Amino acid sequence: MDYKLAVIPGDGIGPEIVDQAIKVLYRIGQKYGHRFEYNMLLAGGCAIDATGKPLPEETVEVCRKSDAVILGAVGGYKWDTLPGHLRPEMALLGLRGQLGLFANLRPAVIYDELKEACPLKPEIIGDSIDIMVVRELTGGIYFGERGHREGKLGQEAFDTECYSVYEVERIARTAFEIARKRRAKVTSVDKANVLESSRLWREVVIKVSKDYPDVVLEHMYVDNAAMQLVRRPGQFDVIVTGNMFGDILSDEASMITGSIGMLPSASLGENSFGLYEPIHGSAPDIAGQDKANPIATILSIAMMLKYSFNLDAEARNIEDAVNKVLKEGYRTGDIMSEGKTLVGTNLMGDLIAERI
Ligand code: IPM
Ligand code: MN
Repeated sequence: MDYKLAVIPGDGIGPEIVDQAIKVLYRIGQKYGHRFEYNMLLAGGCAIDATGKPLPEETVEVCRKSDAVILGAVGGYKWDTLPGHLRPEMALLGLRGQLGLFANLRPAVIYDELKEACPLKPEIIGDSIDIMVVRELTGGIYFGERGHREGKLGQEAFDTECYSVYEVERIARTAFEIARKRRAKVTSVDKANVLESSRLWREVVIKVSKDYPDVVLEHMYVDNAAMQLVRRPGQFDVIVTGNMFGDILSDEASMITGSIGMLPSASLGENSFGLYEPIHGSAPDIAGQDKANPIATILSIAMMLKYSFNLDAEARNIEDAVNKVLKEGYRTGDIMSEGKTLVGTNLMGDLIAERI
């Protein structure tokens, strides 16, 4: 098959990790007879420098006409002092909003080979950690009404958390469908003891759950969820939650696996179209030094093959190649430990590609 891909390398380590992912994809194409066409696009800080805007219209247009989007990372010190609407991060929010990517899938998996990198005690880790955080991505407080105004105590700023029945229903369905293919448990995380929007969230999730009697549903307040993740992470299968809680909990979940440089993500809309990116940021401190771990981006490509193109065997081939390289003892700096072989970004990409 032929696939049209929009590629947004972005800033910092973005370009070098995306290069490795393309290397791997090239091998997949050779082996399985697929052709991938790449359209390189600007977004984030590099787009601000080139066009004055974090998300040029052309980028969104080309993404719309593509089968999927691959993104590296955006942002860096250079653009940190710009006003809110001009910051590189706006490119991410804009892409998600304009492309209708409402479901953000963030798997947090602990690799046997990297168990020593997990900051939790072995008795807390248990047999394994394999959590899928399903984060609502185009609603809630990140997209709600905001502004400045004169309040009782003088000048103030506000952001609004708001969820519609429609938005909760569709993300809940996504979570239940995914849970069905895993261990059939959904933990819906909210703050229903305080927030009206959370009470609606819970009500709607319960309603949707009636269509999935084979999936166990539980509810958890977000503060408790943050605690349970480090107390007994093995209890979680699928976590479904709103935009802000999902932002925070997915970082926490990734950290307990000890390897933020390993974790991919998928952002999906109503159909098979999706945007795939590592969950880590642009790491400007190590950019251009051949130090970044490309595995999260390479595994994001595997998610793309699986979720957007239904190419399960190809996706598994990439995951197996990553596991093989880890078993053979190769490590980038972020996951390095004694007795292992330290490699750079480029070589890590080559090693994985060679094992496809
Ligand atoms: C993420 C990031 C973004 C978010 C920022 C950069 C807008 O933290 O993808 O988690 O909060 O969604
Ligand atoms: Mn985040």
